[in-house]
Amino acid sequence: MDYLKILEEQTSPRLWALVRRLGELAEARRTPLFLVGGRVRDLLLDKGGVDFDLVVEGDALELVRALAVDQGGEAVVHPRFGTATYRHDDLAVDLATSRAEDYSRPGVLPDVRPGPIEEDLKRRDFTVNAMAIPLSPPNPGSLLDQFGGREDLSNGLIRILHEGSFVDDPTRIMRAIRYEQRLGFEIEPETLDLIARDLHLLPAVGIDRLRREIELFLLEREPELHFGRAVELGIVNVIEPELRLGDGLSTLFASARRDLENVDSTIYLSLLLYATEKQRAHSFLKRFRFPKDWIQTVVGMLDLRDRETELAGPRLRPSEVYGFFKGCGRQSVQAFGVAAQRGIVRSRVSDYLNGLSGVQPDLSGKDLMSIGVPRGPWVGKFLNRLLNARLDGVVGSREEEANLVKKWLEEAAI
Ligand code: CTP
Repeated sequence: MDYLKILEEQTSPRLWALVRRLGELAEARRTPLFLVGGRVRDLLLDKGGVDFDLVVEGDALELVRALAVDQGGEAVVHPRFGTATYRHDDLAVDLATSRAEDYSRPGVLPDVRPGPIEEDLKRRDFTVNAMAIPLSPPNPGSLLDQFGGREDLSNGLIRILHEGSFVDDPTRIMRAIRYEQRLGFEIEPETLDLIARDLHLLPAVGIDRLRREIELFLLEREPELHFGRAVELGIVNVIEPELRLGDGLSTLFASARRDLENVDSTIYLSLLLYATEKQRAHSFLKRFRFPKDWIQTVVGMLDLRDRETELAGPRLRPSEVYGFFKGCGRQSVQAFGVAAQRGIVRSRVSDYLNGLSGVQPDLSGKDLMSIGVPRGPWVGKFLNRLLNARLDGVVGSREEEANLVKKWLEEAAI
C-alpha cells in the first residue's frame, strides 16, 4: 500500500507541495523524514486530517529554517524541545527531532536526547499511535509498525507499549479512555490491569496537566462517554473524590446536542456538575484552575438551578423572567435550560434566549434627558423601567415610550 497516495488525496495541493519539498530537503541532508502519531492512525482508519505531525532523524530546527529560506514563510523554533513550526500564510507544519527519552520519576516530564525513529516511536503511548510513514527515501509511503499498531487498529484495541508506560506518564490513563471512546475501541485487558495498578499515580502529574486532560474530554464529540468510562475505571474517584457524576449525564449531554446549535466546553462542564452542590463544584473548579470565565459560567448555571422554583411560578410577567436571568451569561442560561426538568421553566428559558434577552427600549439616555429627565441616577432608573414596560408590552413604539416617560416625570415631580 502506498500511503503517500492516500495522504496526497487528503491534503490540499499547497500543503502537499510543501511537505514534499520538506521531504526533498531532508533527503538532501540524509536525515529521514516521517509522518507520525495520530495522523498515521487516522489515515489507516480512513479518516482525513489536517495536522501534519512530522519527525526527522536529524535537526528539525535547521530543516524548518531551510524550508523557510527555500519557500518563504517563517520558522518558529523551540531549541529546548527540539521542535519547530513552519508557517506561511495559513499553512503550518510541525516538525520534531526524533528523540529517545528517559523518565526519572512518574508524572514529571522526561529527559530527552536525539535518537533514531524506532526510539522515538518506542516512547509513545499506544500501539495505534506509535506508527510512522517515511516521507523520504529509502521507502517513502511505507508503514513503520514495530508494535503491531495496524493489527490493533483492525481489532479495535488500545494497548500500551510496555508495562511501565503509565508510570512514565499517568495522563496516558486518560488518553487511553479518550481513544477508546472516540474510536469505539476497547482498552485491551493487560492495559486495563495496568490502569488499575497505576491509577493512584494520576494526582502526581499536577493539576494543570489533569485539567488539560479534562478539557480534552470536553472537546470530544460525546464527552459523556469519556466521563462515564472515567467513573467506571475509578479515575474520577482518584482525581476528585468529592465529585458525583450522575447517571443522567448521557441524557443531559445528548439533550444539549439536540437542543443547542453549539455546545461548547463550558456548557458541557456546567452539565457535568449539574448534580453537584454549588460550593463543592466551585472548589473543584478553583482547585483545577479552570479559567475564570468558565467558573463564572458553571457557577452562574448552578445559581439558576438553585433558584429554579422562582421561575416555575404560574403568572410571571416577561419582565420578571428577564429579571430572573439578569446578569447571567448566555451559556449558563443555555445549560440551565437543557437540565431543567419542568416544562414551564424550559419554555421560559427559551422565551428569554430567543426574545426577551434582546429587547431594548427605543429611547436612549440622551433621549430621556432631552425629554426632561435630569442627568444622574434618574436616567438609569427610567431606562430600566422603560425596558420592563417594553418587555411587558406596555409600550411598543418610540412615541409611546416618550409619553410614558413624560407621565413618570409628572408623577415623580422632578
Ligand atoms: N504522545 C504520547 N504520550 C502522550 C502524549 C502524546 O506518546 N502523553 C504521542 C502519541 O504518539 C501521539 C502524539 O504524541 O500520537 C501526538 O499527541 P497528540 O497530539 O496529543 O495526539 P494525537 O495522536 O495527534 O491525537 P488527537 O487526534 O487526539 O490529537
